[in-house]
Amino acid sequence: MASGAHTVAVIGAGKIGELMLSGLLRSGWPVERLLATARRPSRAEELTARYGVRVVDNLVAVDEAEVLAISVKPQDAATLLDEIGPKVPADKLVVSLCAGLPTSFFSRRLPDGTPVVRVMTNTPALVDEAMTAISAGAHATGEHLALAEEMFKPLGATLRVPESQQDAVTALSGSGPAYFYLLVEAMIDAGILLGLPRQVAHELIVQTAIGSAVMLRDSGEHPVKLREAVTSPAGTTISAIRELENHGVRAAMLAALEAARDRARELAAQAD
Ligand SMILES: NC(=O)c1ccc[n+]([C@@H]2O[C@H](COP(=O)([O-])OP(=O)(O)OC[C@H]3O[C@@H](n4cnc5c(N)ncnc54)[C@H](OP(=O)(O)O)[C@@H]3O)[C@@H](O)[C@H]2O)c1
Repeated sequence: MASGAHTVAVIGAGKIGELMLSGLLRSGWPVERLLATARRPSRAEELTARYGVRVVDNLVAVDEAEVLAISVKPQDAATLLDEIGPKVPADKLVVSLCAGLPTSFFSRRLPDGTPVVRVMTNTPALVDEAMTAISAGAHATGEHLALAEEMFKPLGATLRVPESQQDAVTALSGSGPAYFYLLVEAMIDAGILLGLPRQVAHELIVQTAIGSAVMLRDSGEHPVKLREAVTSPAGTTISAIRELENHGVRAAMLAALEAARDRARELAAQAD
């Protein structure tokens, strides 16, 4: 299944769908092998103006594309599938980007035997640094997974996970960028509290975040090791860490990600 031969339709090209379109185009995917659908005419015009991509009705996309990448909000998925589900030939690959929705949600609404792959990506796709987790649903073969990987590799890293892990993935890497932004925001505020101009605090913290992330990725060291290297006895860092522990930051992180996982499950239950 080589990508060159495939037309991908991004069904419901909102924020994540647009990230996918732009990433595929940056990677050299031919624009004539891409289609998009939108609910509002103004959104359709925006996508065509920005990317030169052909925006068509959902049913035209189903007819013309070999891969249907579903990127509507989970609560809109049932309505969309009521419209397109019965019209999808069972040899098309359906790739779901919808947080929380199991592949069985799609399989129940698609002709028997339609391969479904579930994907959870994240917004750093915009700078080709996404983390995308990919799972096979019923009828999805190794070839289908490889095709999904080919579509998401240009956007960053990819990882195959069992579908049972996808709600946890949603909580960790799907929502993950928001936690880092919140942390950076709080650290910039702290810089202001300490008397730094906002711009200086911003520059210091953003570069520190980038440097720390690159070290985490490239050194192969455990985060504890990296943290210990900055934490000298009776020094400044350990004073800060005592406060973080006193304020329950670690426990808050555990509870927060559990809440995100639970919300993914709730959204899936509501969508059904
Ligand atoms: N945002 C993230 O960081 C993130 C990360 C990982 C996964 N996801 C998942 O990605 C999916 C999309 O999220 P998003 O943030 O990109 O949402 P979004 O910006 O609202 O995009 C969804 C788009 O689908 C359109 N749409 C809805 N029903 C449609 C239909 N029947 N036919 C054609 N278009 C339709 C919407 O139109 P309107 O503009 O008219 O509403 C909207 O433009 C969600 O399932 C989410 O769980 C998001």
